[in-house]
Amino acid sequence: MPMVDLHLHLLPGVDDGCKTMDDTVAMARALVALGFGAAAPSPHNRPEYASREVALQRLEEVRAELARLAIPLSLDVNAENFFLDETLLSALPTPQSRRVGAAGKYLLVEAPYTSPLPQLTDVIFRMKLKGVTPIVAHPERCLEFERRGRAAEAVQSGAVLQLDVGALIGRYGKTPQRLARQLLDDGLYGIAATDLHSPVGAEQWVGESLRALLKHVGAAAFGALTETTPGLILKGQPVA
Ligand SMILES: [Fe+2]
Repeated sequence: MPMVDLHLHLLPGVDDGCKTMDDTVAMARALVALGFGAAAPSPHNRPEYASREVALQRLEEVRAELARLAIPLSLDVNAENFFLDETLLSALPTPQSRRVGAAGKYLLVEAPYTSPLPQLTDVIFRMKLKGVTPIVAHPERCLEFERRGRAAEAVQSGAVLQLDVGALIGRYGKTPQRLARQLLDDGLYGIAATDLHSPVGAEQWVGESLRALLKHVGAAAFGALTETTPGLILKGQPVA
């Protein structure tokens, strides 16, 4: 089964990810070479970046270009939302909220990197009440999750945690690397993703990261994190 990437900045000119369609095509080729068959590009949902409408238009343009070039990577709608966005909860579950795939049962959301997030479990709970499951992007890179037991509380509250695979090879520094290994050992991650922002070196470093993940967790858990669970999320189905 091909892998599914639910966190990457593939669309050109919408955020701090790919700048041009050439970047996008190069990134898509790298993903296919690594064994990915599907992706849900997740532009940052922030006032300084492109709107939902522009991102949707860009998604259609990239789909057409990948089809023209016969690059076998299917694409779904998505966005990387921000926990501190005051409109995030009120927009759920209206069409204005930028959820994962056509099913829209999940929402990718990132915590602040360097400030605490005491409202974490309360926000997760309120999202679940609205029928949407938050996927917490790269907790290993966020201060709140350095607090012992906080990641487990998020999972118990109903969130899915997403590993940035590059953390395993130290791409974001020593603390995220240590925390990523700890959360893997504790079985707290639901999915793994690339969070690619550029095609430069992508095949090499993501390949190295995926090999590190496979070595750390074994084939069964690797398949769950990279194929089965992200695939269920895209379809809007429940995950364990
Ligand atoms: Fe991201």
